[in-house]
Amino acid sequence: PVNLRGRSFLTLKDFTPEEINYMLDLAKDLKAKKRMGLKGKLLEGKNIVLLFEKTSTRTRCAFEVAAFDEGANVTFLTNSQMGKKESIEDTAKVLGRFYDGIEFRGFKQETVDALAEHSGVPVWNGLTDLDHPTQVLADFLTVMEHIDKPLNKVKFVYVGDGRNNMGNALMIGAAKMGMDFMTVSPKELFPNEDLVNEMKEVAKETGGTITITDNIDDVKNADVIYTDVWVSMGEEDQFEERIKLLKPYQVNKEMMDKTENPDAIFLHCLPSFHDLETQVGKEIYEKFGLKEMEVTDEVFRSKASKVFDEAENRMHTIKAVMVATLIG
Ligand code: CP
Ligand code: NVA
Repeated sequence: PVNLRGRSFLTLKDFTPEEINYMLDLAKDLKAKKRMGLKGKLLEGKNIVLLFEKTSTRTRCAFEVAAFDEGANVTFLTNSQMGKKESIEDTAKVLGRFYDGIEFRGFKQETVDALAEHSGVPVWNGLTDLDHPTQVLADFLTVMEHIDKPLNKVKFVYVGDGRNNMGNALMIGAAKMGMDFMTVSPKELFPNEDLVNEMKEVAKETGGTITITDNIDDVKNADVIYTDVWVSMGEEDQFEERIKLLKPYQVNKEMMDKTENPDAIFLHCLPSFHDLETQVGKEIYEKFGLKEMEVTDEVFRSKASKVFDEAENRMHTIKAVMVATLIG
């Protein structure tokens, strides 16, 4: 039997397929409970701190609402001493005395790892430059809801920046779940080779496959087309280069048609540059003359797009992670 009490959630590399399935099943149950209008007390009396070095809409709100739904209290912390006047180790030790669990979003994976090492309480990775594991649980729950196949029969294609946190996190999750996973990106943005080799080893055990290609025709037979922004948080000086490399990899109607699968769905972790009616978007439009980036508005708003179910599932899956690791 699976028991995750006391565990940190830093990367899906640390979890077995059985443990990942356990969290997905728990999320499904918690979602059904919420749909019935039932408030829970699973986290009653727990105090949780959310440490953010980077901006967020979904992750912060998902942690807060998930905590509130089950009776926990939350501190949102963006201006701590950590890394400025106090070491990560000391910060971890202090927060561990106050809180039952710590969420961290920021730049370095080493920071979230160090918080877990020194705090003595479960630490949850809410995104680093290398990984975004809570997002992957939401993505896989969405796949389970919309695709009539077990995960290990799904062809999951990630298109775009193969080197970013989502490219890594999805590859790790897919390898664990025995999926047919493909990264489609320009050679310059192929994922880290060591990670690919490590995940190919995992996939051997689970019956999955990992394919890295720069050929967009390889999306044929995809069940899922997934993309992410071309420039991640902290890389804002790279727009010009990325636009040049990634323009041919835009998810548009032609690419969806290349799957030759009328039931293929579109996913995106969000936020997305499908229309540039945003502050950053307008700047890009003025500078590069682009109207859309990684996905066209047409695909984003099509029937195949499940991005808002996916966003909602952040909350249910994060709730499952907190319940599993704090209560067991
Ligand atoms: N997908 C995601 O992590 O969204 P936020 O950056 O809004 O938290
Ligand atoms: N790759 C994106 C994901 C945002 C959820 C970023 O890191 O900005």
